[in-house]
Amino acid sequence: MRTITIDPVTRIEGHAKISILLDEDGKVSETVFHATQLRGFEQFCVGRPFTEMPGITARICGICPVSHLLASVKACDAIMSVRIPPAAAKLRELLHCAQIVQSHALSFFHLSAPDFLLGFDSDPARRNILGVVETHPDLARDGIALRKFGQQAIAGLAGERIHPSWTVPGGVASPLAPDVRERILAGLPQARAIALRAVDLFKSLIDRFPAEVEAFGNMPTMYAGLVGPDGNLALYDGNIRFVDAAGGQVADVAPADYHQAIGEAALPTSYLKAPYWRALGPSDGIYRVGPLARLNVATHCGTPTADAALADYRARLGRIVQSSFFFHYARLIEILYGLDRMESLLADPALLGPHVRATAGVNAPEGIGIIEAPRGTLIHHYKVDENGLVTWANLIVATGNNNLAISRSVDQVARAFVDGTHLQEGMLDRIQAVVRAYDPCLSCSTHADGSLPLDIQLLDPSGQVLDRLRR
Ligand code: MG
Ligand code: NI
Repeated sequence: MRTITIDPVTRIEGHAKISILLDEDGKVSETVFHATQLRGFEQFCVGRPFTEMPGITARICGICPVSHLLASVKACDAIMSVRIPPAAAKLRELLHCAQIVQSHALSFFHLSAPDFLLGFDSDPARRNILGVVETHPDLARDGIALRKFGQQAIAGLAGERIHPSWTVPGGVASPLAPDVRERILAGLPQARAIALRAVDLFKSLIDRFPAEVEAFGNMPTMYAGLVGPDGNLALYDGNIRFVDAAGGQVADVAPADYHQAIGEAALPTSYLKAPYWRALGPSDGIYRVGPLARLNVATHCGTPTADAALADYRARLGRIVQSSFFFHYARLIEILYGLDRMESLLADPALLGPHVRATAGVNAPEGIGIIEAPRGTLIHHYKVDENGLVTWANLIVATGNNNLAISRSVDQVARAFVDGTHLQEGMLDRIQAVVRAYDPCLSCSTHADGSLPLDIQLLDPSGQVLDRLRR
C-alpha cells in the first residue's frame, strides 16, 4: 500500500495530519485523520477549586474561550445547585450568540469563502482571504464587519481580556450597562444585512459544486444537538436530541444523562477521542454535531429571519440535509438566528435587571454543563470533594463529537478525488476543505495550542512516503 499524508490542513484551528493509504493499483484503501497534540486539561484540573474551572478551561483554546467559559459556569451552577437570576441567563445567552456570530463569520468569510469564490483548483498562493479581498472586496469587507460586530459585542459585555472574571459560577459579575445595550442594538441592522447577503451568495454558488456536494461527507449518520422545549434550535440550554439518518427521533437526553447516551472510544491514531451513540457502538453510532446537525435535529429555529431562511434551505435540500458541504449554508442560517436572538434579548427589559449572580458553596458532588458551541455540542462534567476541589473532569468538545464523521468524510473525498499516482493541488484542497466544512477546532479537541498546521502524506504499500504536503 501507498499513503498520502496531508500535514498540515490549512485554514482550520489547531493541528492535524491526514494519511491516505493507497493499494497496489494506486486506489485509496484507507484514510486516517489524526489529531497530533495533547495538553491534558482533564488531568491537570484535578485538585483545583471548581470555581477556578471557568478561568482554567477558557485557556484550553484561544479561539473558543467564550464557549468553554459558558459550559464551565453551567457545570459550576450545578455543583452549587443554584438557579441563576433571569437577567444573568439572558446575558450569558447574549454573549453566546455574539460568539456564534463572530466565530461563524470567521469560518465562512475568512476560512472557507476562498474555496467557493476562487475555486478548489485555483492557485493556492491566492486562494485565501487576501485573494478574496482582491477579487470580491465587498464580501471581504462584509466578513470583517460581521466578525467585528460579534467581537465588539463580546468586548462590551465581558471586556476584551477579562471574560473569565465576568462569566462566573452563579451568573455574571455585573449587570448590563444601558449604553452597551444601545451600541449592540445599533449594529444589528448592518450585521443582519450582511448575513442575508451571504445566504444569497451561497445559494447562488451551490450549483457550481455538484461533485463536492456529492462527496463532502455525504453519508448517513445520526445527528445531535440541543433543542428547546418546542424542539426549536437552542444554543445555550436544552436537552440533547439525537435523530437518525432519516430524521427519526432517537432520544431527547437530559444533560445529566449524557454519559448514558454517549460512549467515548480512544483511537490508536489520534489523541482526539471519538464519541459515539453508545447503544450502537463506535462503528455504527457515528453522529454529527454543529450547524448542519443542529438544523437537522431542530424542528424550527424559533426566530423570524432564521426561520424564513430555514424554510428556503429545506425547500431546496430536504428536511434532513446529509452532505457536510452544507455545513456552510447551515452556519449562515445560524448567524441569522444568533442576530435574531440578540435582538429579542436586547429588547427584553429584564436583560437590564440588577440581580445577576447567585452565590452558594458546594451543594452537589458533581456538575454537568452543556452548550452548543459554534462547532457543536460542548460538554463539561466535573466531580468535586466536600471542599469543592475537583477530583475528576471530563470534557467532550464539539470537534471530538465530529471526529468519526470527519475521518469518514475525508475518506469519501479521497476516494472521489485522489488518483494515487499524483498529488494535485485541487485534490489536496478538497481534502482540506471537507475538514474545514466542520470548522474543527483542534486546539480545543486535543487541548493543544492555537497554531494551525496540517500535514498530508501519501504512503505506498510498504509505508514509504511518496509525496507530502505541509503548511
Ligand atoms: Mg473527555
Ligand atoms: Ni477551540
